[in-house]
Amino acid sequence: MPTYILGIESSCDDTSASVMCDGKVLSNLIANQEIHKSFGGVVPELASRAHQQNIIPVVNQAIINANIDKNQLNAIAYTRGPGLLGSLLVGSSFSKSLSIGLNIPLIEVNHMQAHLLAHFIEDCGDEKPVFPFVGITISGGHTQIVLVKDYFDMEIIGETLDDAIGETFDKCGKTLGLPYPAGPHIDRHSKNGDPEKFKFTKPKVGGLNYSFSGLKTGFMRYIQKEKNIEDNFISKELENLCASLQLTIVEILYEKVILAIKQTGINRVVFGGGVSCNSGIIEKFKQNENIENYKSYFPKFEYTTDNAAMIAMVGYLKYKNNDFSSIEKSAQARFKF
Ligand code: KG4
Ligand code: ZN
Repeated sequence: MPTYILGIESSCDDTSASVMCDGKVLSNLIANQEIHKSFGGVVPELASRAHQQNIIPVVNQAIINANIDKNQLNAIAYTRGPGLLGSLLVGSSFSKSLSIGLNIPLIEVNHMQAHLLAHFIEDCGDEKPVFPFVGITISGGHTQIVLVKDYFDMEIIGETLDDAIGETFDKCGKTLGLPYPAGPHIDRHSKNGDPEKFKFTKPKVGGLNYSFSGLKTGFMRYIQKEKNIEDNFISKELENLCASLQLTIVEILYEKVILAIKQTGINRVVFGGGVSCNSGIIEKFKQNENIENYKSYFPKFEYTTDNAAMIAMVGYLKYKNNDFSSIEKSAQARFKF
């Protein structure tokens, strides 16, 4: 008998629903919230309101696109955390109600675990990573180095002490006048720029931890200073600024990942999260595989940013383990694994 899992993701500003059959994605719908663009970042109250408007049509369409009837679903997997509480509450309340209505089990999912386990979606890549591996979660809210011994045996061995890597892209991009989220725009402009034109200070943080706030502040101050001297500094140098900023971020990320490989003795590095589609990061890690003797894994583009297929994937893995959740469990803005 095939197992059908409905995945629901609402941790930040994307409302997403996916139907999965035995690890294969039948549908994966994402409703982006355009409203935040005019504010230059996610406004939590507006995000939860938009989730409320989107959730029923998105789930309904995901079931239609999967070409199944909702009564065929075996379980509902939802993001319990981490994320914005108001956003999480919409997805979690809806999932609980639907599981009661359909009389099927509920499965709670940790969003950050899901970013890494997205690699096990059937069409995510040609080769599945073998355990143990070093997991790197890089998104708008997180920057973590995770020792992944098994699907649900994960330990954070390094993380950012302040800003997340995606947040750094977004906030520096905002200074350059780029729309939110600025990460993809910086990536695009970088392609035509000189990455060596500007030098930005890198942090000095011990162990496997990161820090990005110094780079962000230094970048913003530099831009302001140059703008005061020359009005059109940004438009003249946009591509070079993007390329130089991106290279600095990539180098900061790279250095600690290599340290993690050396410290753990594990040479498989598995990326997850919205920033893992960054072309500079992919290029750097692919180029150096033979030099540093590791193999890097990047998810297929549609499974990098927030999506419900990765939630359904974790749901399927937990379903096979009979690992179900109770409706009494509440959404968790901070949710450790
Ligand atoms: O995982 P995600 O969709 O949401 C969170 O859980 O935060 O990640 C969103 C982040 C944003 O900061 C966005 O700017 C960044 O991913 N991002 C990128 C790229 N595409 C998305 N950052 C750099 N380069 C990209 N190509
Ligand atoms: Zn995410």
